[in-house]
Amino acid sequence: MRRVALTRREFALGLGAAAAAAGAPAAFAWRSEDQGAAPAKHAGLIRLNFNENPYGPGAKVAAAMTRSEGEAMRYPDAEYAELQKEIAALHKVAPERVILGFGSTEILRVADAAFLGGDKNVVAAAPTFEAVLDYARVMRAAPVRVPLTLDARHDLPVMAAQCSSKTGVVYVCNPNNPTGTIVTRKEMQQFFDQVPKTTMILMDEAYHHFVDSPNYASATEWLDKLPNLVVARTFSKVYGLAGMRIGYGIGDKDVIAAMREQLLQDNNSSAGIAAARVALQDQAHVAECRSRINGTRAWLTKQLKGLGCKVTDSQANFLMVDMGSDVGPIIAEFRKRGILVGRKFPSMPTWLRVTIGTQEETAAFFAAFRGIYCGGNVCVAA
Ligand SMILES: Cc1ncc(COP(=O)(O)O)c(C=O)c1O
Repeated sequence: MRRVALTRREFALGLGAAAAAAGAPAAFAWRSEDQGAAPAKHAGLIRLNFNENPYGPGAKVAAAMTRSEGEAMRYPDAEYAELQKEIAALHKVAPERVILGFGSTEILRVADAAFLGGDKNVVAAAPTFEAVLDYARVMRAAPVRVPLTLDARHDLPVMAAQCSSKTGVVYVCNPNNPTGTIVTRKEMQQFFDQVPKTTMILMDEAYHHFVDSPNYASATEWLDKLPNLVVARTFSKVYGLAGMRIGYGIGDKDVIAAMREQLLQDNNSSAGIAAARVALQDQAHVAECRSRINGTRAWLTKQLKGLGCKVTDSQANFLMVDMGSDVGPIIAEFRKRGILVGRKFPSMPTWLRVTIGTQEETAAFFAAFRGIYCGGNVCVAA
């Protein structure tokens, strides 16, 4: 039979039309950041748009990926179980309390799939990382958006008050994407005391390793006390393995079992698992990346503040700076200068998100910034 070849774009457009007709979302907001671009389109550009680690994985991890080539014909069941055990040991929990995802995105998706059935809603900040809300739409679960505070932080008391018996999931991104701001240990404890036990608390700690504030605590500390808590982590950020697609979640045994039912079976590759296992051991590389990136974050913050700009108090590998006018044309202006920056966030339309790259990349961003933001006025050249 002759197969009709559709390009990926035609296929997506067709599906989009069908989905729109069915009342489903045609596209995920956070995936629309020029994600479909072919690699060649990005060649030579400075990529400060997806909060990736510009230093990538360490040499030992790269060697492990190469070695995994010899196992490419096998399903990696044994290695999968080993990684699960190693993550469990790291967090001092039983392996059945750990779930591996195809990136932490899959963890967020299966949490929605497991806990948003029926007439449930999802409570989340605005703005925050959108995946949980995107997948909630697929589940037909209503979003309850709680604006950030004036200092661009989660408003946890209001978020807790919004949780009712109808709330399947409350999502907290700590540090928050796109602002980089954190919720403190004290705020988190009060929040945990207030959220109904029938609501799943999903704490997304994708940027955990970049935090250096003494007021921060990882929600993993509460795992043994709160059966309605799931903590998501990823290998995509400080470990420099975004392309390998590995993340994980930790929670109560029964909660994780319910989420596991929603997973794609055999959802991780040999190369990804091999990389993650060595990356966990290579904490020197983690420390090196954290120190370089946080150093550059401090440098950029100082430069931007030196120009009189408002900058978010970021504890992640990105920050936001207020451009004073709609960032849509400004993003295009950076692109003309060979620099990709984050997308526009509709609830913070004048704030630009920029990923911390290498020191050289970040200096190039700042040089371009000075040309675009001249002394408080945004002077975008025609
Ligand atoms: C807060 C947050 N959570 C989760 C993810 C998903 O990451 P991954 O699926 O690569 O683990 C991202 C990606 O940028 C993110 O910013």
